Amino acid sequence: MIGEHSLVSTLRDLRARAEREVASAGDLAALEEWRIRYLGTKGAVRVASKGLGSLEPAERPLAGMAVNETMQALEAAFQQKLAELRQAAVASDLAAEAVDVTLPGRRPLVGIAHPLFRTLQDITRIFGSMGFSVAEGPQVEWDRYNFELLNIPADHPSRDTMDTFYVDVPGGILLRTHTSPVQARVMLSQRPPVRVIVPGRVFRRDQEDASHLSAFWQVEGLAVDTNVTFSDLKGVLANFAQQILGCKVRFRPHHFQFTEPSAEFDFSCLVCGGRGCRTCKYEGWLEISGAGMVHPQVLRFMDYDPAVYSGFAFGMGPERITMMRYGINDIRLLSANDPRFLRQFA
Ligand code: DAH
Repeated sequence: MIGEHSLVSTLRDLRARAEREVASAGDLAALEEWRIRYLGTKGAVRVASKGLGSLEPAERPLAGMAVNETMQALEAAFQQKLAELRQAAVASDLAAEAVDVTLPGRRPLVGIAHPLFRTLQDITRIFGSMGFSVAEGPQVEWDRYNFELLNIPADHPSRDTMDTFYVDVPGGILLRTHTSPVQARVMLSQRPPVRVIVPGRVFRRDQEDASHLSAFWQVEGLAVDTNVTFSDLKGVLANFAQQILGCKVRFRPHHFQFTEPSAEFDFSCLVCGGRGCRTCKYEGWLEISGAGMVHPQVLRFMDYDPAVYSGFAFGMGPERITMMRYGINDIRLLSANDPRFLRQFA
């Protein structure tokens, strides 16, 4: 009797303990450990069942049933916990992979128009509204167009300010130092009235700094007709300054070989509001470029009679206008093509 009671009660205790423990198995590894501990070939149930052999034959059936019941109960507890843990694992995997459809999308990086290019488009549009069409010429130019036809002979000192890259061939080839040679190209190819602007790249042997590049842009303007006066020039540039930047224009007397009279013109600086800053070299005004009435000698080179026709011309630096528009204080940013800078304009 003692043996029977002892085995059956051992099994009862064992089952109670095992069922408590299985409930707290937190993952599949812990459950497997539990299975080996209780249901394995050397597990607690098997070890306990060895006690059967030392029982009286009469006691064995009852004790044997108790062993089987314990085995089955723990096996069932194992299967149930296994199913629970598997389900929990699937649920947590799903949660980890869940897509939050309410999150905002990632914006793809798309290309944008370069700020200088936007300025060039606006310049073209504004002059277009005043009747100017667009003309273009080559960046690699003949000496004749870049200098001679603009009344700048070979020995003239004004060439010194426009040092560039020369190719030593008869006739002289160079990287054009300004867009003015296209004035000559246009006038040689048509009769008045002429009204063009010429956007294009030009080249100088210049030291680069916050306001100079050695390869930069210009926009040339040329209008030739009967009765064109300096007032027309002032009106056109004042209107342009107002439209592109809402700023004022001022003219300073100057000298150019291909215009007479000549002037340099400035726009009031928008970066500092005229107070003076690095961009305007602390002047309150930013030099845009030169202008004037087309020199009679230039008109004669084109076979335009200066007694009949007159015209004005101007050149301007679209980089400087771009710097004023966007408050950029170093012109080199416009040629560097650095996405960290350009992304701001997206
Ligand atoms: N070509 C001159 C330069 O690059 C700028 C210029 C001055 C253009 C006077 C003109 C002009 O058309 O009339 O410095």
